[in-house]
Amino acid sequence: MSEAVPWWTNAIFYQIYPRSFADSNGDGVGDLEGVTAHLDHVSELGVDAIWLNPVMVSPMADHGYDVADPRDVDPLFGGLGALERLITEAHARGIRITMDLVPNHTSSAHSWFQAALTAAPGSVERERYIFRDGRGPSGGQERSDPGNDLGGTPPNNWVSVFGGPAWTRVADGQWYLHLFDAEQPDLNWDNPEVFSDLEKTLRFWLDRGVDGFRIDVAHGMAKPPGLPDMSNPDVEMLTLDDHDPRFNHEGVHDIHRGIRSVLDDYPHAVTIGEIWVFDNADFAKYLRPDELHMGFNFRLVRAEFDPADIRGAVENALAAAGLADASPTWTLSNHDVEREVSRYGDGATGLARARAMAMVMLALPGAVFLYNGEELGLPNVDLPDDALQDPVWERSKHTERGRDGCRVPMPWSGAAPPFGFSSNPDTWLPMPPEWSALTVERQLADPDSTLHFFRTILRLRHSHFHFTEFDVEWLQLRDDALAFVSAGVLCVLNTGRTPLELPAGELLAASAPLLEGQLPPDSAAWIVTG
Ligand code: GLC
Repeated sequence: MSEAVPWWTNAIFYQIYPRSFADSNGDGVGDLEGVTAHLDHVSELGVDAIWLNPVMVSPMADHGYDVADPRDVDPLFGGLGALERLITEAHARGIRITMDLVPNHTSSAHSWFQAALTAAPGSVERERYIFRDGRGPSGGQERSDPGNDLGGTPPNNWVSVFGGPAWTRVADGQWYLHLFDAEQPDLNWDNPEVFSDLEKTLRFWLDRGVDGFRIDVAHGMAKPPGLPDMSNPDVEMLTLDDHDPRFNHEGVHDIHRGIRSVLDDYPHAVTIGEIWVFDNADFAKYLRPDELHMGFNFRLVRAEFDPADIRGAVENALAAAGLADASPTWTLSNHDVEREVSRYGDGATGLARARAMAMVMLALPGAVFLYNGEELGLPNVDLPDDALQDPVWERSKHTERGRDGCRVPMPWSGAAPPFGFSSNPDTWLPMPPEWSALTVERQLADPDSTLHFFRTILRLRHSHFHFTEFDVEWLQLRDDALAFVSAGVLCVLNTGRTPLELPAGELLAASAPLLEGQLPPDSAAWIVTG
């Protein structure tokens, strides 16, 4: 790692899901003025940058990942002016702003798709998306009454990531592809017009001072010629393999080269791809010098609370980024996965383990992504059926509850919902009354709170971890412990059932109070041994 590393190399990003952060206008949905009003919370946490989930104009079928106008901010979030104010205020505090970019698909309300629907098969309007005739005797030839079930056999067996078929039939009998919701038609990246438009979008935001993008479904976009069938249509996102024809097609790399050629005009800006690819060599391809700057590696999200599993995830993530000489990335949660407190067992155990894993993650070289609410130790919420909003619930025919449980609004203050999130008790997802114990206000008043713990470990990461390489040195203490030295600091995690004797040294921090000098189960410590 050279002296003059870019700002993002070991940065801490804080992901804000704008619907759920803070509501400034009482409609029960979070917005950008709400984010600006709570920037002190972000700043005092000690993060370097914010990643904002999509705020572009959208009918919100997938809460902003269905973009109808990529170069404007939705009025629900306060419009473009609110984003400009947020950028100014964040920059004044030394916090960078990265946005979410959705190049794989648009909303079905996008003017391009609306035009495609009224245009004929084979028209230039349809060529911006992936329209095909169906299979079977009637194929796309028959005309049906759009009010009826259109029947027929789709062009291939692909399934939507959200459940059900990845194809929807339109009135003239053709089908269009959507890897996600039917309201998220996939763009045809073989059409040069699609890149030209993305270039406009990139420059639009970069010219407004945005510091980079998280790129949604960055392993999607390119589709294999002939759209061959999937061999395993039952696959789920978290168990996705690398031979799924819907994703990770070689052609995607040209698209990333195109994006990078634009970014190179804005050297202050970073791109981070959402890459659900687990073969290290395949993953590294996305991080070649003319493609993305960084890629989300989801191995830590998939790892159990087990030393061998965690070590395997870390070693592989380091190796994958190392193949491309890129900065590794670390995350334990985001708006798509169950919150880690619940993944690790819920209750006091889940929380203790989540705090311990935060210390493991923050000891690692590379960029770290925290998800809003992680600093409060929020668990996932079991929401009643009638509260569920994620399209996954309907598309899976009520077999998958979807991701709403990790998207419940942030509790800021007070003793009852909506806990200062909004003036409106009718928040877009209901907030559990027991979160009165987890509000920012309550935690600020308690020196042992998870919020104070996060502030401390973030401060210590900045002050004590002077990373000079993307590597760690593993130590063997006990079979049920994980230990590694990173930037001169020893990190020890105890996953066992008995307290662990700590090596000698200066204790910088521990995720739980030591027991007679020993590290309790489900906790971690940082020690300077030198
Ligand atoms: C990504 C996003 C997810 C969204 C999907 C479709 O996986 O993280 O929230 O639903 O893409 O855009």
